[in-house]
Parts: sequence; structure tokens; C-alpha cells
Amino acid sequence: MSKVYLVASGKGGTGKTMFAANLGSSYAQKGYKVVIVDMDMGLRNLDLYLGLENKVVYDVYDVMTGVCKIKQALIKDSRFENLYIIGSSPEREKGDLTPLHVKILCEKLKTDFDYVIVDAPSGIDDGMVLASAGADAAIIVATPEYAALRDADMVDREVLKMGIRRRYLIINKLSASLMNAGCIPSLQEITNMMRARLMGIIQFDTNINLSTNLGEPIVLKRDTYIQKNFSNIVDRFIREEITGSLR
Ligand SMILES: Nc1ncnc2c1ncn2[C@@H]1O[C@H](COP(=O)(O)OP(=O)(O)OP(=O)(O)O)[C@@H](O)[C@H]1O
Ligand SMILES: [Mg+2]
Repeated sequence: MSKVYLVASGKGGTGKTMFAANLGSSYAQKGYKVVIVDMDMGLRNLDLYLGLENKVVYDVYDVMTGVCKIKQALIKDSRFENLYIIGSSPEREKGDLTPLHVKILCEKLKTDFDYVIVDAPSGIDDGMVLASAGADAAIIVATPEYAALRDADMVDREVLKMGIRRRYLIINKLSASLMNAGCIPSLQEITNMMRARLMGIIQFDTNINLSTNLGEPIVLKRDTYIQKNFSNIVDRFIREEITGSLR
């Protein structure tokens, strides 16, 4: 059954868009049909991270306000068999959009895609509430710092309040040396602090930073430790969808 994953965070810059782009790419590499929807209105990055910025004609705002059909806003990533994005609107103004608009969009996308991945704005304000409207589960991306984790837990609370019971955690930008030196919270501390279930850890790696700058999802480079890590994260989610609480 199709799933809508919300990718959210407390603080900005934790790696949501990087994660959404590579999660979607990894699912697509495994043969699933995926659409990543950029719901970070005004601060869009997804198109850039996938090198598709020149292809955006219609955006998610246009779809939801009826300016165009879904089909017209879908941009295919030619490097993958079945990966599409819908770009975000450059306009910050989203006053006439309601959670119902988003819910309906997600329901429609679910009829045609195995996975809908929604890249949300950071924090817990209206933009995030809007982005979360059609989600079956939330993936909270946090960096391993006390402040980021506390903010991530606030997001966790908010999404739960909005009725999203399945919440997962990704720790991004982890530095093994800092963790080994005891300068940042240990994994044990992180799992004790957070109610969302830890599903993956991504190391800080300048190659990831380069990949977003170049518009090339890092998982395109096969058999690297990062690509394998993403592949394992996706397998964990798939197991959760088949046998776990995300059925
Ligand atoms: N694991 C990583 N290692 C190194 N750099 C990373 C990693 N993850 C993300 N980055 C870099 O961090 C920056 C922020 O990432 P990204 O834009 O994905 O965060 P975001 O949470 O979507 O930010 P925003 O809140 O502004 O939407 C980018 O320059 C990206 O390349
Ligand atoms: Mg982002």
C-alpha cells in the first residue's frame, strides 16, 4: 500500500532536503515509483539538490490552487526509472491553502505512486502543519546536538498531536570522532531522549555537501558506504511497512 512520509525537523539545516532527495532516490533504485514533493514554500531547495531546477514550470502551489493538473507539475528525474518531484512555489504566500488541499493532493498522488515523500519546512509553524496534512508517518531529521534533539522532540510532539502516530528519527551529520570523544550525545542518550524510533544514522561527510551543491543525489554513486547506508535505511522502512507498525 502506498505511503506518504513527511520529512520534518526542529532546527533548519539538519539535512531534511538532502535526506528526502536520497530517500526517494533509494526507493526508486529499488524499483518503487516515488514522488518527492517540496512543501518548503518560499525556501525551496529540492529541485536544486536533484539538479532539476531548470525543469520547474508548475509548482505544488499551482497544483493545489487548480492552475494546472498534477501531471503538468510532475518532473521526471531521467537518471532513475521512476523518480519524480513536484517543485515548491517561490512565493511565501500560502494563505489560501488549507490542510485539506494537501490531504487531497497526497491522496491523489497515492493512487499513482508507491511513495510520496513530503519535504517540510523546519519548525512547528503553519508551513509544517500544512505539509503534514496527508502524512501516514513522519521522519524527523536531527543533528546530534542537545538543542537540535530537544527541538526535534517538539516536532515529534506536534506531529503526534496532528494524529501522525508513526514517527521515526534520522540522526544526520554525525561525527564519529566527536561522539567517541564524548563531546556530543551518545546514541544511547539520543534513543533515551527521543520518542521517535531511530531508523538510521548518517555521518557528516563533505561528499554529501558536494552532492547537494552539484545537484546529484549521493546515492547515484553505487557501492559507496553512503549509498549502502541509505539502502539499509530504506530496507528498514520497508520491513516496518510489511511487518511493523506502519502496515
Ligand atoms: N551528512 C551530511 N554531511 C555533510 N553535509 C551535509 C549532510 N547533510 C546535509 N548536509 C549539508 O547541509 C546543508 C543543509 O542541508 P539541507 O538543505 O538538506 O537541510 P534542510 O534541513 O533541508 O534545511 P532547511 O531547514 O533550510 O530546509 C546542505 O548544504 C547540505 O549539503
Ligand atoms: Mg530543506
